[in-house]
Amino acid sequence: MNFGTVGTGWITDAFIEAAKESSDLTHTAVYSRKADKAEAFARKHGTEDIFTDLNEMAASDALDIVYIASPNSLHYEHVITFLSHQKHVICEKPIFSNTREWEKAYKTADANGVFLFEAMRNLHAPNFASLQEGLREIGQVRSMILPFVQYSSRYDKYLLGDVPNIFTTKFSGGALVDLGVYPLSLAVGLFGRPTDATYFPLKLESGVDGSGTLVLTYPEFTGTILCSKIAQSSNTCEIHGEKGRLVFENAGDMYQPRVIMNASKEEVPLRADDHPNNMVYEVTAFARIIESGDMNAYNWLKNVSYDVLAVTENVRYDSEIIFDCEK
Ligand SMILES: NC(=O)c1ccc[n+]([C@@H]2O[C@H](COP(=O)([O-])OP(=O)(O)OC[C@H]3O[C@@H](n4cnc5c(N)ncnc54)[C@H](OP(=O)(O)O)[C@@H]3O)[C@@H](O)[C@H]2O)c1
Repeated sequence: MNFGTVGTGWITDAFIEAAKESSDLTHTAVYSRKADKAEAFARKHGTEDIFTDLNEMAASDALDIVYIASPNSLHYEHVITFLSHQKHVICEKPIFSNTREWEKAYKTADANGVFLFEAMRNLHAPNFASLQEGLREIGQVRSMILPFVQYSSRYDKYLLGDVPNIFTTKFSGGALVDLGVYPLSLAVGLFGRPTDATYFPLKLESGVDGSGTLVLTYPEFTGTILCSKIAQSSNTCEIHGEKGRLVFENAGDMYQPRVIMNASKEEVPLRADDHPNNMVYEVTAFARIIESGDMNAYNWLKNVSYDVLAVTENVRYDSEIIFDCEK
């Protein structure tokens, strides 16, 4: 299957490289708002077709699937454009600004007989399955701490008076929807939707959260997610059970998953595939679901995507973080 790309940032480079490595999808079309940028990006990746008009690209036979990595608030309009032309869509996280957009978009996908995926890469990596195995070892989970605390070079620009998209309500930005969604997706993927969630944000003058602490309540335990774009952590994640703990590095990559048992203090490495670009696995998963029509896998991903968005939306509203598209 052929795919086109919207957005010319580094994450699109990474997705194209992952597609090349997986050889499940072939990159055939590039969109950029500017022709010279589209040409340079296409040249870099050896891609044939370029577009500066999104509707023209959506109507083109050059692609079966589109990968969308535009600023968050534009996802909805971009996704609808391609779905309406019967193109499958892979949209970067956070898939939409809120659940109203999510519901309308999935209705449009169904009406057009195509698939819509949120590109939440950690759910597809083999290390996710290793975490599921590790959970069976550590007994009843009682707590967890999942940080995604990564200082952004764009914060330097923000401090100098610039307004990078991700630090604005105009483009539906902020630490929770940008970084907090990785650990939150892991939590929802592993344990389901929490029964309750409370967010303690550090709000910037621009109106978005530069950092924050999200507390998730489950019937048998609580979990803490730290997210920040204005500080740095080593990002070691821990899930604590009554018999042992599950430890791994980074909620997006889940590198070096291991179990440490309380009694023996023994550290047992779990099966790990610490691929430097774990988008490879989502590419393979999306291609497989489209080709096989595996609705069980599709619906599971849909539900995780919805639950994550519903949690972030609810706690944003509680914290009065309102995006421009919602005002
Ligand atoms: N999965 C991951 O690990 C991962 C990592 C990073 C980012 N992401 C996601 O990828 C998406 C893009 O992130 P990013 O940091 O690359 O965003 P960005 O730099 O703000 O913008 C991405 C692209 O959108 C276009 N664009 C920028 N500003 C625009 C504007 N005002 N109006 C219309 N188009 C505009 C630009 O492409 P043209 O100039 O060519 O049109 C740009 O390359 C986000 O949803 C983000 O959450 C995911």
